[in-house]
Amino acid sequence: MAAGHTVTSFDARRVRADTPLLARVVHDRTITYLDSAASSLQPRAVIEAMSRYYELRHANVHRGVYQTANEATAVYEGAREAIARFINAPGGANEIVFTKNATESFNLLAKSWGTANLKPGDVVLVTEMEHHANIVPWFQLRDVAGIEVRFIPVTDDFRLDLSNIDELMRDVKLVSVTAMSNVLGTINPIKEIAAIAHRHGALLAVDGAQLVAHEVTDVAALDADFFIFSAHKMLGPTGIGVFWTREETLNTMPPFLGGGGMIADVRIDGYTPASGPARFEAGTPPIAEAAGLGAAVLYLENLGMANIAEHERGLTADALTRLALEFEGRVRVIGPGDTVNRGGVISLDVEGVHAHDVAQVLDQFGVCVRPGHHCAKPLMRRFNLSATARASFGPYSLVRDTDVLLEALGHAVTMFG
Ligand code: ALA
Repeated sequence: MAAGHTVTSFDARRVRADTPLLARVVHDRTITYLDSAASSLQPRAVIEAMSRYYELRHANVHRGVYQTANEATAVYEGAREAIARFINAPGGANEIVFTKNATESFNLLAKSWGTANLKPGDVVLVTEMEHHANIVPWFQLRDVAGIEVRFIPVTDDFRLDLSNIDELMRDVKLVSVTAMSNVLGTINPIKEIAAIAHRHGALLAVDGAQLVAHEVTDVAALDADFFIFSAHKMLGPTGIGVFWTREETLNTMPPFLGGGGMIADVRIDGYTPASGPARFEAGTPPIAEAAGLGAAVLYLENLGMANIAEHERGLTADALTRLALEFEGRVRVIGPGDTVNRGGVISLDVEGVHAHDVAQVLDQFGVCVRPGHHCAKPLMRRFNLSATARASFGPYSLVRDTDVLLEALGHAVTMFG
């Protein structure tokens, strides 16, 4: 277990009581929130940390010398330290860049590191199960820099097909892969992929957006070179994401956005960029959001990531078993059928019913799921699907959420059957 992931206590009912939105009533039913893969809900501790910042210490950071400005800077930099601890960044807070979201972090990787390090003919190897955020920036780079984007295929049982990996690795300079699929729930063998990439002289970037709130994350143990995620999927606020790489790599990457805060000097003949995270944090950063993210890390650490993982594995096993028993032949789970290397994301394909119709019936029961292609169109094409209705768990989820899901799903199947 990584430093900082001290297990103290875990009780999903307490997490539920801490999360105000779960008390909402919609369509005369208490909400059943099963959309944490799209965005997780915030505990009061996170909301209050943001309010406290605005009420007591709002000021810009890294600029003022007065008391509240110093406090604002301490809150912002404290969040950086919390994230470094949470993912076990070997070089600490100096390796943590705050961005707008995981998508911006991928654009930073492609447009800064990619532009500086890739030449025509070089290959970026992604997978068929990537989110568009880890595909489109590489296509954009291909259009201007002449690189090739290559895909690791996905097997019929929803795993990465690494059988031909040495062949696929030809001319690859970067492997960029999700730690956990936002559609399938598949958890990929990142350490194994890191070893393959490094054996071939390539670097490894990891999309951790779906992993960080559900499993212990240790970037050093994974042997990743870049690690990317966003706050709003880990009980934090929207508007802030994370980009991690080792300090020595960070300081060789050209700045991505220019402006105040990212410079060491500006003259009339040019500028010198700052080193460290500031190099990539032009303009006033997301300070209140960092306050919320710092609080989210403390909250998760207090619950214990290993406890959360175990709790969600239990929920997932129960849901998969009951879906197979109660909806055999009518509802197909698009993802691994057991909980081995699998997280709590359950994509459903209801025979003969469009995912949007399923989701609309579920909404009448207060059940929140995401219908659609989940920003993973290559994966949808791979399985000849246009959409799925996706249910996903968080630390506040309970078996009774699955009860309501199955009740509502039963109605959807009957209504359209
Ligand atoms: N990436 C988020 C999802 O999978 C928005 O829903």
